[in-house]
Amino acid sequence: MSVNLGIFISGRGTNMEALLDACANGTAPATPKLVLSNRPDALGLTTAAKRAIATCAIDHKPFGKDREAFERALHAKATDAGIDLIALAGFMRILSPWFTERWEGRVLNIHPSLLPKYPGLNTHERALEAGDAEHGCSVHWVNSGLDQGETIAQAAIKVRSDDTVETLRARVLVEEHKLYPHALKIACEQILQRQS
Ligand code: GAR
Repeated sequence: MSVNLGIFISGRGTNMEALLDACANGTAPATPKLVLSNRPDALGLTTAAKRAIATCAIDHKPFGKDREAFERALHAKATDAGIDLIALAGFMRILSPWFTERWEGRVLNIHPSLLPKYPGLNTHERALEAGDAEHGCSVHWVNSGLDQGETIAQAAIKVRSDDTVETLRARVLVEEHKLYPHALKIACEQILQRQS
């Protein structure tokens, strides 16, 4: 039994690669069916295509302020591809309730903070400015609140006195690449249990 996985990206897609590896090496019972980007020039699309994964770009820009029309296009593509679970991996568009309600319990996100701390952007800057001793990343189910759904797994690292935004970002990213496959496995097992 395997979960049909869709991965939504906006950029370079290093978390996407960690998820594709997890599918390929059996860490998670999932089969990647589609990598979708809202940016047609996303580097991750090229990486996925090289790995013979189906890719698709749905540029959000022509939809302007019509968020629902953009999300209808995402929904149609994901439904056509027979996707059971969507993993957001650096997908930098906020999904509205129109989408999250249709996909409730079927969308994961990775976020570079120890949620509930620092939802939204600039998480590394905010952790450094606050003088936090720890920082990290979280994988959570997506609901209609920004970075607010139930957390599946987290990884924490110690902030160093000489950390800059860039060094902290890089060390958190290393943790993201380990955390997301682990959380994907947990999410897939929950979905397969629901289906049985
Ligand atoms: C990752 O650090 C991810 O946690 C973050 O974007 C980066 C994407 O990198 N996501 C968010 O900030 C979502 N709010 P990647 O394209 O190399 O995976």
